[in-house]
Amino acid sequence: MQLPTAREHPFDPPAPLRDLAAQGPLHPLSFPDGHIGWVTTSRDLARAVLADQRFSARQDLRHLPFEHALGEDPGAPMLPGMFLRLDPPDHTRYRRLLTAHFTVRRLNGLTPRIQQIADECLDAMERAGSPADLVQHFALPIPSLVICELLGVPYADRSEFQGTTETMVRLGTPKEEYMAAMNHLYGYFRRLVAAKRADPGDDLLSALVTGSDLTDEELTGVGLVLLIAGHETTANMLSLGTYALLRHPGQLAALRADPTLIDGAVEELLRYLSIIQFGAQRTALEDVELEGVTVKKGQTVVISIPMANRDPEQFGDPDTLDLARQATGHVSFGHGVHQCLGQQLARIEMRVAYAALFRRFPGLRLAVPEEELAMKTDMAIYGVHRLPVAFDPA
Ligand code: HEM
Repeated sequence: MQLPTAREHPFDPPAPLRDLAAQGPLHPLSFPDGHIGWVTTSRDLARAVLADQRFSARQDLRHLPFEHALGEDPGAPMLPGMFLRLDPPDHTRYRRLLTAHFTVRRLNGLTPRIQQIADECLDAMERAGSPADLVQHFALPIPSLVICELLGVPYADRSEFQGTTETMVRLGTPKEEYMAAMNHLYGYFRRLVAAKRADPGDDLLSALVTGSDLTDEELTGVGLVLLIAGHETTANMLSLGTYALLRHPGQLAALRADPTLIDGAVEELLRYLSIIQFGAQRTALEDVELEGVTVKKGQTVVISIPMANRDPEQFGDPDTLDLARQATGHVSFGHGVHQCLGQQLARIEMRVAYAALFRRFPGLRLAVPEEELAMKTDMAIYGVHRLPVAFDPA
C-alpha cells in the first residue's frame, strides 16, 4: 500500500490507515520510487522510533512517501543549517544554540505582543466586512507576523515567502518549480543574513549572527527552517481548529463559558487534527527488530502522527473531539531530539488567537456550505485552503 491521502471525513485520517491500525502497529509501505518501507500506526511505536538513535532523520538517506512533497527534495544537496534533517551530534550543535531563544519564560514574554497582533488582525477582518476568508485575515497573518518579528524578517517582504513556502509543501510540485521556489527563498534569506551582519537588530537572526559561530550559509538554513516551520504549521492549526470548533457547537459553547479550558482545548485540537498528516520519516541505520519484524538497514519508516494520536490504547473514544479530556501524550509536535522547537510559541499563539477570535465574534459561522470547503489533502500540512466565515460586527 502507498500512503493514502483521500479522506472520507474532514477531521479523520484516511480509512485505509484506520483499517491498518486495527490490525497492528507496523505495516509495510510502498514508496513512489519503488522502495518498500514501513508505516507505524500506534502512539507507543511512534515514540519508540522517534526516540531511537538507530533511526536517522537525514534527508539523503530517506525515501519520501510523495515526490517533492515535504518541503524538500531528496535529490538536492543538503543545505547547511537545515538541522531538522541532521542527526546528533551535528543536530545538537544547532539545537543548543536555538534552545536558549525558545524557553517558556522568554516566549511567555511575547504574549502581550501576540495579543496585540491578534487584535489588529481581527480589526482588519472586521473592517473588511462579513463574509471574510479566515485564512487570509486571521490564520495566516498571525503566525506569519509573529515569526517575522521574532526572526527579524520585514513583514513587508512576505510576498517573498508566503507563496513560496506553500509551493514547497504542496504534493507533486514539479521538481523545477520546487527548486525555483527553494532558490528564491534561499537567496532572500542569504541577503537578509548579510544585512543583519552589516547592521544587527534586536531579533533572533541578529542574535545568532553576532552571538554564534554559525557561517552565513548555516544561518541562512536555520532562518529558512524557522520561517517555514513557524508559520505554515500554526496557520493551518488556527484555520482548521476554528472549522472544527464551529462543527462542534457544544464544545465551543463550553469553551466560551469557561475560558480557562483553553489550554486543554489547544492540546485536544492538536491531537484531534494532527496537521502533520504524513507524519515524520526516519531511516534505519542498522537492522532493527520492531514488533517482531526486522526493519532492514536503509528502510524508511513513516511515523503516522494522525494514527498515533487516534490510538485507542492511549485516548478513550479517540475519534471524538473532547476539549475537556487530558490530551497530553499526543505526538503532534513529534518526540525525541527533533521534538518541535517552537511548540511553546505555537501553543501561546493558538491560546491567544482562538480566545480573541471567539470573544470578538460570538456569532462566528461558516459562510458557505461545508461541501464547498477545499481541504488540504494535497499538502504536507493538513488544513483548509480557504475558510469563508460570516460574523456580526462587535
Ligand atoms: C501547531 C504548530 C506546529 C506543529 C504541529 C509542529 C510540528 C512539528 C513536528 C511534528 C516536528 C518534528 C518533525 C520530525 O521529527 O521530523 C517539528 C519540528 C520543528 N518545529 Fe514545529 N510545529 C509547529 C509549530 C512550530 C513553530 C511555531 C515553530 C517556530 C519556530 C516550529 C519550529 C520547528 C523546528 C525548528 C523544528 C525542528 C526541530 C529539530 O529538528 O530539532 N514549529 N514541528
